[in-house]
Amino acid sequence: MFHSVRKGAVPGSLKVLLSAMACWLPLATALAEDVGQYVSKSCAGCHALTQAEIKNADVSERARRKGPPLYYAGDKFKQKWLERWLAKPVRLRPAGSFPPDHTIVTDDGDVIDRATLKDHLALPAGKTKLVAGYLMGLHMGDKPLLNSQYKPKKISKMLGSMDFNKFKGCSACHRDAADNGGVSGPELYTAWSRMQPEFLISYIKDPVAWDVHTMMPDKHLKEKEIHKLVDYLKLIGEAAQ
Ligand code: HEC
Ligand code: HEC
Repeated sequence: MFHSVRKGAVPGSLKVLLSAMACWLPLATALAEDVGQYVSKSCAGCHALTQAEIKNADVSERARRKGPPLYYAGDKFKQKWLERWLAKPVRLRPAGSFPPDHTIVTDDGDVIDRATLKDHLALPAGKTKLVAGYLMGLHMGDKPLLNSQYKPKKISKMLGSMDFNKFKGCSACHRDAADNGGVSGPELYTAWSRMQPEFLISYIKDPVAWDVHTMMPDKHLKEKEIHKLVDYLKLIGEAAQ
């Protein structure tokens, strides 16, 4: 086809392509704007989409917070997980976003008040990719937060479990299995499919750098100790998949 085209003339097929692109580009921009508006309208009431909302508020903000911050979503989530979860959300924090609001103290210890926990809204099929893509575009400005150069190593389940449960005390607040661990933090037996390894390391190293009002304690662990914990999260995460 192309060898027969006269100099300077634009082949018909190319014309169609060019006009299609001319239509498509503004449409893509319009869609991106719409997604931003949609997320502001539907999600910002419960999720911080900018760091300033949390940083400029006093610490009581954490108790009022309805959902986890999303302003670093692009540094935190694995996109595939995000798309799946938005379409079919399941509970990740056994006692909700702010556990004291969903816990009753009884003689047998604290019990989760399930009646006060609401299911997360599910996005319609046509929206999950767009919204996930939009969230993956949200980043913390400070890239040095993600520079651990982690290389996964093999760890035995027994040693990893002892470390997580006994030596580092993570299980006081987190679960490393559906039936083991605390309920005040997000479940971690699915952490590997949900979160990027570099984020896991960085968050464990310096939770406050990500969220000034986080309830996750800074355990002052060494880089090597953190890598070992993440090796364990990888092991149990892959086994759960
Ligand atoms: C009524 C409040 C509310 C609204 C509205 C809401 N969320 Fe949430 N969201 C939550 C809560 C609470 C959680 C924690 C759920 C859990 O851990 O089980 C959550 C969790 C999430 C998570 C997982 C976060 C993580 O760090 O693990 C994502 C992603 C998310 N929401 C996205 C959205 C998006 C996108 C919208 C808008 C379309 C939205 N949410 C609207 C309350 C809300
Ligand atoms: C005193 C309770 C507590 C302990 C102990 C604790 N965490 Fe956390 N952790 C939390 C809470 C709560 C969050 C979520 C932040 C929030 O809700 O403010 C969190 C968040 C995290 C996250 C990010 C997960 C997400 O979905 O955002 C990781 C990863 C994590 N913790 C790992 C660990 C590891 C590994 C240990 C052991 C060294 C540990 N935590 C010890 C309470 C704790």
